[in-house]
Amino acid sequence: MKYKSILVTERGGPEVMQIVENDLRAPGAEQARVRIQATPVCQDDIAVRLGNRPFLAKPPFVPGYSILGIVDEIDESVTQVAKGDRVAALTNFGGYAEYIYINEDQLVHVPNDLDPAEAVVLILNYLVAYQILHRVAGVKANDKVLIVGASGGVGTAFLQLGALAGVKMYGLASPGKHQILEKYGAVPIDYHTQDFIKVIKHLEPCGIDYVFNGMGEEYLVPGMKVLIKGGVLVHYGGPQSISSFLLLVAELIVFNLLPNGKKIKGYGTHRLSIDLLKEDWRKLFAMLDKGQIKPVIAAKYPILEAAEANRQLEGGSVVGNIVLLAPDLL
Ligand SMILES: NC(=O)c1ccc[n+]([C@@H]2O[C@H](COP(=O)([O-])OP(=O)(O)OC[C@H]3O[C@@H](n4cnc5c(N)ncnc54)[C@H](OP(=O)(O)O)[C@@H]3O)[C@@H](O)[C@H]2O)c1
Repeated sequence: MKYKSILVTERGGPEVMQIVENDLRAPGAEQARVRIQATPVCQDDIAVRLGNRPFLAKPPFVPGYSILGIVDEIDESVTQVAKGDRVAALTNFGGYAEYIYINEDQLVHVPNDLDPAEAVVLILNYLVAYQILHRVAGVKANDKVLIVGASGGVGTAFLQLGALAGVKMYGLASPGKHQILEKYGAVPIDYHTQDFIKVIKHLEPCGIDYVFNGMGEEYLVPGMKVLIKGGVLVHYGGPQSISSFLLLVAELIVFNLLPNGKKIKGYGTHRLSIDLLKEDWRKLFAMLDKGQIKPVIAAKYPILEAAEANRQLEGGSVVGNIVLLAPDLL
């Protein structure tokens, strides 16, 4: 039997993605074979295709940072999941496919009644926002925060989780996307035409407690300027190259040595144990189940139309998330 996946054959635009056929093999030791139902398209899928990240695998590869699906076959050594289980995982690669092989310890069970497009978005974007808010920053009600990139996939997760935590939010976004920030109680700032330092200093003369930066190093210096003494900037934007990674590391060290009472902390999902990720995914599944959060889904595409979905995200008009789905779920 065969299955299809989307292969990036060389660095470049969405046109370098090709549909290829693969043999459906038995899972290896400790592996489950998962029939993919949903996989989001995220900014990092685009960055690895273009080559805008350090330490990258060379093409060919199948993109797709996270998946949700049904266990379709297991190796006889597997004990933690069974055929028919609904599972999800942070895969980094391999999600743009009809099937994927994953080690059982990487899989988390997903409640059957959750919507697949909404639930799969929790695996990366909501995890990042949740862990930064609650594990890195440790926000309290009424803390004041600035979200850089507030209208995107991670940004809208920050808006919903920040509103739940009772923090006062400011967000940078293009003017056409301000409505979504206002919906969750954030004060939108148009970073194209407004100086956000001036806006925040005017509205919060004492400064704010946290800045969450999913963009580049260009936000480190201005971000520090709006913080109170004791404030923290959490940087989670992926560096574009090895030189920008080294510059970022140097900047983190230097900024944290400055005697100004402010700190920069870096965040990346790869730094955390799988047990901690699973603990937080289960909390997020429960929040979704109770209706406390509702991921913003801008568009849904069939998995094999990943190139068109990538084109839409690269176009810059998306508010929230794009999700690829198995055709029977569309
Ligand atoms: N460290 C980790 O583990 C981790 C995990 C996931 C994501 N990330 C990072 O998080 C970032 C966001 O990812 P995503 O998937 O949420 O992307 P996304 O959905 O494309 O959202 C990014 C948003 O940033 C805004 N933006 C673009 N340029 C900007 C600029 N110069 N200043 C301020 N805002 C700008 C865009 O909206 P506007 O039109 O409103 O500007 C866009 O909505 C990426 O850098 C990604 O690498 C890191």
